[in-house]
Amino acid sequence: MTVAIQLKHLIDIKSLSTQEIEAIAERALEIKNGANPLFLKDSHVALMFFENSTRTKFSFEIALNKLGASVYNFETSKSSLSKGEDFFDTLNNLAAIGFDACIIRTSEEGLIKRTIEETAKGRKLFKEIALINAGEGASAHPTQALLDFVTIKEYFKDLNGLNLVIVGDIRHSRVAKSNIELLNRFGVKIKCTAPEYFKDESIENIEWCDNLPDALKDADIVMTLRIQKERIEGIVEFEDYVKNFQINENNLPERCILMHPGPVNRDLEVTSNLLDKRGGIILTQAHNGVFTRMAILEAVLGGNNV
Ligand code: NCD
Repeated sequence: MTVAIQLKHLIDIKSLSTQEIEAIAERALEIKNGANPLFLKDSHVALMFFENSTRTKFSFEIALNKLGASVYNFETSKSSLSKGEDFFDTLNNLAAIGFDACIIRTSEEGLIKRTIEETAKGRKLFKEIALINAGEGASAHPTQALLDFVTIKEYFKDLNGLNLVIVGDIRHSRVAKSNIELLNRFGVKIKCTAPEYFKDESIENIEWCDNLPDALKDADIVMTLRIQKERIEGIVEFEDYVKNFQINENNLPERCILMHPGPVNRDLEVTSNLLDKRGGIILTQAHNGVFTRMAILEAVLGGNNV
């Protein structure tokens, strides 16, 4: 069996062509609907998570297991990085030991791209090693955007002309940034609404709405976000946020689907009641994350095995 597309790395959404995005989504849904995945038995993959994770880490891990690859947990605090080793040197040693890919989550903006660029500047790798972004700083979370795309596509089929409203801590959210980058390319109309302290006016191709009721008027999809306390300097005005931007049973239009990348802080960005009544799609997102990551891993590692 051959893979439909091959990727050297997965850095961000910008570096993927529209065709590659479509191929990943199509393959993810094919696998979900019973197609046999590739068998990546000779692939060795390290999970390097410098930030906490439940969904992303475990769905990569289960995806790798389903593909027959070998998964290793890089214990970041116990590694030689904590002894001062340079990140490129660590990766190069992992390549020398026999790793084929590293799945990286970091708070350091641009770390993955900078590391890849080191080779262009003349630093030699022992052998090629693929880097996959599993969430980087406040700017990129491409696999989350891809799994959200799969979920929206599965639900609505045609994305062109859909109205998406993103609510909340957009400034610090890598999920929002990657989703905006991706969904814009497929004709989704994106409105963002947030208190001033969560806005980011540098984001392109979106419309800012000052208040939630206006933003929700024509919405088909409402994407809520966790307030990224770990990335915020200063005090968050939670009371003000809840009063004006919390999604609840009264303000979520009947026709809308409710999305959230997780983890949800119940009764902060979404009411607990609403989550229990209409939070089904949020679990579908987590479920689809496995098939999406299988499709991504096939594209990155499949070339080694065919
Ligand atoms: C997100 C993340 O880590 O960026 N979680 C996830 O991967 N599903 C969102 C968050 O932490 O709020």
